[in-house]
Amino acid sequence: MNNILLSKKGIIDLHSLKKYIAHGGYEALKKALSMPPENIISMVIESGLRGRGGAGFPAGMKWKFLPKEREITKYLICNADEGEPGTFKDRQIMEFDPHLLIEGMTITAYAIGACRGFIYIRGEYDWIAKVLIRALKEAEDHGFSGDYILGTDYQFCIDVFRGAGSYICGEETALLESIEGKAGRPRLKPPFPATFGLYGKPTVVQNVATLSSIPFIVNNGPDAFKTFGKPRNYGTMLFGICGHVNKPGVYEYPMGTSLKKLIYEVAGGIKGNKGLKAVIPGGLSAPILKADEIDIEMDFDSLIAAGSILGTGGIIVLDENVSIPFVAQKAAKFFAHESCGQCTPCREGTNIIKFLIDRIAAGEGSLTDIEQVLRLCRCIKGSTLCAMGDTAAFSIETMVKKFRGEFESLVK
Ligand SMILES: Cc1cc2nc3c(=O)[nH]c(=O)nc-3n(C[C@H](O)[C@H](O)[C@H](O)COP(=O)(O)O)c2cc1C
Repeated sequence: MNNILLSKKGIIDLHSLKKYIAHGGYEALKKALSMPPENIISMVIESGLRGRGGAGFPAGMKWKFLPKEREITKYLICNADEGEPGTFKDRQIMEFDPHLLIEGMTITAYAIGACRGFIYIRGEYDWIAKVLIRALKEAEDHGFSGDYILGTDYQFCIDVFRGAGSYICGEETALLESIEGKAGRPRLKPPFPATFGLYGKPTVVQNVATLSSIPFIVNNGPDAFKTFGKPRNYGTMLFGICGHVNKPGVYEYPMGTSLKKLIYEVAGGIKGNKGLKAVIPGGLSAPILKADEIDIEMDFDSLIAAGSILGTGGIIVLDENVSIPFVAQKAAKFFAHESCGQCTPCREGTNIIKFLIDRIAAGEGSLTDIEQVLRLCRCIKGSTLCAMGDTAAFSIETMVKKFRGEFESLVK
């Protein structure tokens, strides 16, 4: 078996419950409902599964933070906002294997004692929201979701909640505000969602790929999960490879797979046989790597050691002809536009950085502007309300530091 998440790719067509069941679907749910909930949490902790939404926090540990009492109202939220440029892995699961996510959510909800769940999906994924709604109806009609799941007294309903195209709503507390009908702005933490989440109730927020890994763990056990990847970084990752490669796409490979292999073997190498200039390894907010830095393993710890992050696993490949100041300009525009405006360092900082990089790219900047961009990045880091400010600053700062010559060649 080579896959955990895309094992049915090409076999399952849209929302086909019949085919999902024929390929072992909902067997993990049956098994889970026969187990005490705390055993499922232990299993997930033992598997070492870390969140696939960006931060890599251990999933089972997060579930353990929730109060144990079954009578307390708790919520489970699937984060399907997927708004980061270069990131398109979650849609692959939701579009082609929606029941895998529904099964993963239903098992997770049983483990933590949640009665109600939401899939928060980005507004642009209009057709995928429809696929999910159809699959949920099918699951309810066949007793896999809703009331008295599989004849037990366990009840869990899932609603699809459509976002409105805001990247910051992917931040888990902004997402909660958005579901509550407020502006999608991150909350000050603590308290964390595990104690004060949706409508003030204990809540778990988990990425699509994280939740979709649960049926495999329950079916096959934590040791089977640990045959993929490496210590502290177990399982597989959906790598979404885009940019200047011959075969862009979403590929499932074990954690720790070489970045070089992913670009040159899996994605077919650089388009037009050009040279490689740089790679953004984990969605736009991941600090850029130079061509001579790609001999690394793609997992949480290796990328941090290399000065970047695994993030969403969205690999953006840039060939030798790409202007990094141009990339920085696009990135700065995105971050400035998406800043929620709530905290000063992010609101003002991202906007001034955008202004300065625009000026540099237009050939009207100065060396002082480059220094000013770096100074602003230093000021933003560690001083914002949520992680968006940090990641925006790291991303821009790394581009300027590693490709400073290109920026300097543009200034007066
Ligand atoms: C600006 C911003 C955007 C984010 N967008 C997403 C997203 O689209 N999907 C996602 O799963 N996590 C996103 N996250 C991370 C979430 O806050 C949270 O850590 C994640 O949903 C937890 O799930 P996981 O542990 O399964 O990764 C974002 C974080 C930030 C700061």
